[in-house]
Amino acid sequence: PQKDTMTTNSNTTKPNKGGLEGIVAATTAMSKVDGTAGRLIYRGYNIHDLARTTSYEEILHLLWFGHLPDEQELADLRARLVAARTIPDTVMQSLRSLPAETDPMDALRTAVSTWGALKIKGKPTVDQAIALTANFPLFLAAFNRLRHGQEPLESQTELSHAANYLYLLTGQVPSNEHVRGLNSYLVLLADHGMNASTFTARIVASTESDIVSAVVAAIGALKGPLHGGAPSKVQDMLREIGTIENADSWLRNAITTGQKLMGFGHRVYKTTDPRAEELREMARVADPEGFKMSRHVEERALALLDELKPGRRLYTNVEYYSAALMNSVGLSGDLFTPTFAVSRVGGWTAHILEQVSNNRLIRPEAEYTGPENLPFTPLNERK
Ligand code: ACO
Repeated sequence: PQKDTMTTNSNTTKPNKGGLEGIVAATTAMSKVDGTAGRLIYRGYNIHDLARTTSYEEILHLLWFGHLPDEQELADLRARLVAARTIPDTVMQSLRSLPAETDPMDALRTAVSTWGALKIKGKPTVDQAIALTANFPLFLAAFNRLRHGQEPLESQTELSHAANYLYLLTGQVPSNEHVRGLNSYLVLLADHGMNASTFTARIVASTESDIVSAVVAAIGALKGPLHGGAPSKVQDMLREIGTIENADSWLRNAITTGQKLMGFGHRVYKTTDPRAEELREMARVADPEGFKMSRHVEERALALLDELKPGRRLYTNVEYYSAALMNSVGLSGDLFTPTFAVSRVGGWTAHILEQVSNNRLIRPEAEYTGPENLPFTPLNERK
């Protein structure tokens, strides 16, 4: 049964620094993040076994229905996802009305919200989760084409979720290599315990609000650079460093002046993020030249952090090599975070369904630190 009070994770020994660190806010059977061992499990399966061998659609089945599908179950889910791929005219009009310089994450949030106003009534259902997940790539690709003066394209029914997204962006059937790369990225990012956006979605769902309201709120939480907004900033950082020769002096200066290195650090992982390990190997193959620079900066940053800030235990997180991988499949920097959402919507919707299946309003308390018993003065007497 779901816990109705927040408890402290017994693994956490640190003093309370705020930010709900070490607090167990819900029970879940979706995924386990073991920050000490550097292990991520989706419903019992180690992420290293899933990352390069399963399709994103299989992971959706695992998250929504609780087990990996057999061939028939997978074909059925694929057919349901394909049947749901359609953008209503009102959503397309709302995307057309946005200025070209709109952040694609804002465009996605707007499209999802408009779509929800038209399509969603009542308690969250798996059909709604399927429709919503099926349409994330369509909304983004349509906006991306419109902002570049191109007309949106029709989905190709025979293409997988990852392949159709790349096709809708470019108008070209993508190479197997690009589809494999993007598919693995979608698998790796689909769920991750009680991360900030998933927690946001569960809070909204716990009020008995609808699935789209919960997902729109989650998109808002994902957008920030301390969560999903970091990968394009990793790219900016690597560009600013510029050359391998410049890395040491740039990093030394950044660390001693207290700047945050983008793509480093994690609230839960105090060792290597297993997703970063997978993405590192994929980036090594996908873009050998760019990889040399990313890997050099990673190695030097870890060594300098050890020297200048001993005991911090900062490692690269999932976002560090995400940038390299998404770049290698042809995505522009401002599509990195919304593409994270294309994956994570599977996890968000699975958590929303889990929350409503055994719901209790999520409503913690706050410790009040303001004054009490101030004498009241009417407006016309205040100076
Ligand atoms: N670079 C340099 N120092 C860092 C970094 C970093 N990337 N991250 C944390 N630190 C330092 C902090 O300054 C702090 O130092 P202090 O004790 O002297 O104040 C110490 O390490 C502990 O950091 P916190 O901020 O308490 O760690 P928290 O758990 O709150 O933050 C977070 C985790 C937000 C991921 C942080 O590491 C960060 O900002 N990283 C950079 C942005 C980033 O990569 N975001 C993507 C996260 S992954 C994801 O959501 C998918």
